[in-house]
Amino acid sequence: MTAKNSWWEGAVIYQLMPRSYADGNGDGIGDFQGLTSRLNYLRWLGVEAVWLTPVYPSPLQDGGYDITDFKAIHPELGDLAAFHRFLTAAHEHGMKVILDLVLNHTSHLHPWFQRARWAPKGSTERNVFVWSDDPNRYTEAPVLFRKFEDSNWQWDSVAEQYYLHRFLKHQPDLNYENPWVQEEMLGVLDFWLQKGVDGFRLDAVPFLYESEGTRCEGLPETHDFLKKVRQRVENSGRDVLLLAEAIQPVDEAAPYLADDELHGAFNFALTAHLFAAIASGNCKKLRQCLQDAQTIVPGCRWALPLRNHDELWLGDGHLVPEDVIQSIRSGLPGGHGHWLNWGINRRLAPLLNGDPRANKVLHALLYSLPGMPCLYYGDELGMGDWPGLRDRDPNRTPMAWTSARNGGFSSAPEPLLVLPAITSPGYDYRVVNVEVQKQLPGSLLNWHRRMLTCRRLLPALRLGSFEVLESTHPSVLVYSRCSGSMTVLIAANLSGAGASLQIDLSKWKGSRTREVLWGCEYPVADENWFVYLPSFGFSWWLIGEVEDTDVPSVD
Ligand code: GLC
Ligand code: CA
Repeated sequence: MTAKNSWWEGAVIYQLMPRSYADGNGDGIGDFQGLTSRLNYLRWLGVEAVWLTPVYPSPLQDGGYDITDFKAIHPELGDLAAFHRFLTAAHEHGMKVILDLVLNHTSHLHPWFQRARWAPKGSTERNVFVWSDDPNRYTEAPVLFRKFEDSNWQWDSVAEQYYLHRFLKHQPDLNYENPWVQEEMLGVLDFWLQKGVDGFRLDAVPFLYESEGTRCEGLPETHDFLKKVRQRVENSGRDVLLLAEAIQPVDEAAPYLADDELHGAFNFALTAHLFAAIASGNCKKLRQCLQDAQTIVPGCRWALPLRNHDELWLGDGHLVPEDVIQSIRSGLPGGHGHWLNWGINRRLAPLLNGDPRANKVLHALLYSLPGMPCLYYGDELGMGDWPGLRDRDPNRTPMAWTSARNGGFSSAPEPLLVLPAITSPGYDYRVVNVEVQKQLPGSLLNWHRRMLTCRRLLPALRLGSFEVLESTHPSVLVYSRCSGSMTVLIAANLSGAGASLQIDLSKWKGSRTREVLWGCEYPVADENWFVYLPSFGFSWWLIGEVEDTDVPSVD
């Protein structure tokens, strides 16, 4: 008997920021009421899970990643009843819901921190956070938000000690050495498990513990705690995804994927290599990264993001080598002048110079590589950004639904909007929106939908084995996915120039080959199979005949 697959294996995840997605009550801020009313759209698009950035009460000094109550809903988004209605409706639409859970820190306004400041030095209450009399501890831990902070320590005049914060000073780090903290945070997990959520994106997991003389990332104690997290999920008896945000190279992210730890982790190195490949027109290193990830953790446990709500994180040379970062800096002019912290603070479309072909080829890879493809809201439209807004807000502006006022996001007067709707040339919501693109057969939105439909019809793309094939062209990545009688061949040209190449298909010699998207026949497979791909072109081909049982029906 074969084990039943978990829902998340190969699932397409749609990431959205609830405050920026749809405003249901007309106050200018997206909420659960609005989001629930847009589930039809997400179902129509064909995504399988939605990941919501934090939904908890928060002073929003870090977009909601600074939490004051882990067991409630931010009043601007609704309440627990509204969340429940949303979750039930999502399930009725056949979609899973992933919550963002921040284990590493709270808001400085969280009652635990306020209590800690006033509690006696050395008491359990004080030690809910990490304090020190000396700010020169853990000096090898890099300052992550270097635009905003110059130290990981902040003096607190009430406590008369410094507290540790790996992110903003408004986000004190919890002290996992304290068993009370562990129990409380596991209780938070239980709370949402009981509410029926289907998964958690675990924010900033590498930083739970500190140790002198290290970068304070992924320490053994951190892994021990994450194993307890896994145990809680197992105890619930439900099929729930635990997805790690660990911005580390694959060999360092892989330990989170131990059998008794987390199910999935983002492959951020792959993201960087995808952008480097398109910036340089060379996919040698991308190919290597893919192979490494599959050698270290085979299958579909890597989540594959292109862009998200943060800057495109490239790091200090630790995630990917300096020359890869350099090729992105020089090859993507859209990123010039938009550097923030350790990455580029732009949405996908402007970063790719507004070229829909580049958007397509990158997503064609995401949708056909082994893993969980992550689509960031608005990227299915080629939505633009608003440079100049503070912090990472340029990438977090309201979803463009229609050509009506505020892009149909909200009926509130414009100045009340959570962030301004995009009206910049080329990206104006009156042109770039769901309603218009739905009606244009050749639109980017319809392309994404079509690709997701094809993906559902081709189970080899979801769970099939993966093999990188030799390519005679440096700009073209070629690989195959196989399961049962189904083999899909994928080739993608990451350069702005056309590419002709030969692919060795001797393995399938004599088999029929058909292009998937348009159904046209190609010459039968042989050792010198010849194809031409236009600039940023790609193709998915079916090789051989497929038995009916290997093709699912799509409703
Ligand atoms: C993660 C989030 C980011 C947040 C940080 C601190 O990296 O993606 O948005 O600022 O954690 O919680
Ligand atoms: Ca609202």
